[in-house]
Amino acid sequence: MEYIVINGQKRLQGKVSISGAKNAAVAIIPAALVSGGICVLDNVPYIEDVVSLTKALESLGAVCEFRDNNTLMIDATNVNSCILDEKHAKSTRASYYFMGALLARFGKVEIPIPGGCEIGTRPMGYHLKGFEALGAICNQEHGIVTLEAKNGLKGANIYLDSPSVGATINIMIAAVFADGTTIIENCAREPHVVDTANFLNKLGAKITGAGTDAIRIKGQKSLKGSEYTIIPDQIEAGTYMIAAAITGGDVVIDNIIPKHMESLTSKLREIGVEITEALESIRVHVKTPLKGCDIKTAVYPGFPTDLQPQMATLLCTGTTGSIITENIFENRYRYVGELRRLGATLKLDSRSLIINGNFKLTGATVEASDLRAGAALVIAGLAAEGKTMISGVEHIDRGYENLEKKLCDLGADVRREIRND
Ligand code: EPZ
Repeated sequence: MEYIVINGQKRLQGKVSISGAKNAAVAIIPAALVSGGICVLDNVPYIEDVVSLTKALESLGAVCEFRDNNTLMIDATNVNSCILDEKHAKSTRASYYFMGALLARFGKVEIPIPGGCEIGTRPMGYHLKGFEALGAICNQEHGIVTLEAKNGLKGANIYLDSPSVGATINIMIAAVFADGTTIIENCAREPHVVDTANFLNKLGAKITGAGTDAIRIKGQKSLKGSEYTIIPDQIEAGTYMIAAAITGGDVVIDNIIPKHMESLTSKLREIGVEITEALESIRVHVKTPLKGCDIKTAVYPGFPTDLQPQMATLLCTGTTGSIITENIFENRYRYVGELRRLGATLKLDSRSLIINGNFKLTGATVEASDLRAGAALVIAGLAAEGKTMISGVEHIDRGYENLEKKLCDLGADVRREIRND
């Protein structure tokens, strides 16, 4: 079995460069299907979820080629199928974006619905309701979703019950050729929603309002291939900011958009971290013991749920107590049991996690249950006394490029080990 092994209590210092945004890349790669031509994407993170999606694209007839680890060429000219098989659909949850892309391109799509995962049931009702509003007929049988619009898609006014990131992006992609104008109201405003809209507009789409609570898509006859550079990863950046803080470090997080980090920056300042912002970087410098604070996760620009486990870990070491409330997913505390093994005393009360603080974390063998829980355990290992061994590294590899190298370059003692246990 593969482990990430960390000898903790090394103060992180220096500079780390952040990779392209996973949650933008996993939307933009399927969306390239609507170009009907060649797209070249720069600043693509070389992570498992991205590789899985390129394989899914190839199964549909596209040609995908990494020009270097972070530049991906996609030739969608000869895509000839609207049926995604189980193997590729189940390889990453983000395969659900093939629904919008294939429905737009072919007026039909057949795809296994991705199941729930460790953080919740993750239904897709808002996505399917949006496709039906555009004129698609939706059938679900034996876990396979079939969507078909025999007379083509027509623009519609769609109001999302809640600002779902996936539903917003999926419907936006589906609507690029719809006849007339589509308005998505109460939509998500995350940076990766805006990035996907910007990518589609580069292909010739007519999308306005991304980043606000209403997006307008004016259907076009066709789109063309183009080059596009993906934004930096807000969640990877936040993970390294928190790692710097928990080790009492002094780190410059480079190649980021500081505005995307505002909710975390504000909370780190509140607990006593010195934060200095520059145009494309943030310096995280810890000079005094850090306090606790209360966190409520929310849709953007609120505190991101994808940084909740990492922040909870940092707050375990605060000199005062904290309360975390998870408002987005119903089961995003799977990492709590593992933190307890590292010495934290935590009380779960439905959606809230009560953290007394002042914990001295000590190394142990723990297991990552999902991507961000894994990131939290890495952060705990960096602060813990002694050795921490983390299994379930396949979860972490889905979303973090060159994790060990980036941490070692900052002074951490991190390595990967295969053990026959
Ligand atoms: C995206 O998931 C991200 N994944 C998640 O990141 C992120 O946590 C989430 O947005 C929230 O920001 C990708 O972008 C690939 P949602 P998504 O639809 O689109 C409920 C990571 O670690 N809901 O905004 O699935 C849903 O159950 C991952 O990078 C419905 O009820 O999130 C959840 O409770 C984890 N019906 C809430 O809305 C629907 O049809 C938010 O989900 C859709 C969603």
